[in-house]
Amino acid sequence: MNQSPRLEAVMADITRIAADAIVNAANSSLLGGGGVDGAIHRAGGPAILEDCRRIVARQGGCRPGEAVITGAGNLPARYVIHTVGPVWTGGARGEADTLASCYRNSLALAAAHDCTSVAFPGISTGVYGYPKEAAAGIAVHTVVEALAAGSTVKHVIFVSFDAQGLALLKKEIARYPLFQ
Ligand code: APR
Repeated sequence: MNQSPRLEAVMADITRIAADAIVNAANSSLLGGGGVDGAIHRAGGPAILEDCRRIVARQGGCRPGEAVITGAGNLPARYVIHTVGPVWTGGARGEADTLASCYRNSLALAAAHDCTSVAFPGISTGVYGYPKEAAAGIAVHTVVEALAAGSTVKHVIFVSFDAQGLALLKKEIARYPLFQ
């Protein structure tokens, strides 16, 4: 039976989410950092970084908007999808399109690895400075478009680390009653 797609927003530490894949807000080196990147590598253990190093050896780093996939080490998820968000510089340099590509490419990669559930953090809304409200709108709209187009991903969890971000995500999801 073709399960209807569902979106939800939760406030949690994404390293504890047992989705098939969780998404990491990485940087183009793929070699770790602070924020959610640091949390995922810390909780997941060295196996994730080893996978990243193999990818870097093969293809170099990861361009903004692109995504790569690794194992999840000690995490409850099966995979970690590492995507590189845009650095916010005022919005006149294609940041919105790059952010949308992060969500689109991460979902495509998840589907290619038979994931039916994917958890996203607020890509670019921390160190990279993307305004949270605009980012939440792009995140939810891009995911709805992909799920409506028939993605095999059926459950997307938007994970916020703060109450303000959670409220913004819930407001955006409420625009799409068919996906609740
Ligand atoms: N679980 C869920 N969300 C988290 C967690 C966590 N454990 N830790 C942080 N966040 C949230 C932040 O509050 C923010 O809303 O993830 C969002 C993304 O913030 P960053 O991690 O700073 O990511 P980003 O803004 O995309 O900047 C990426 O930061 O850590 C470095 O290596 C990373 O250079 C890259 C840059």
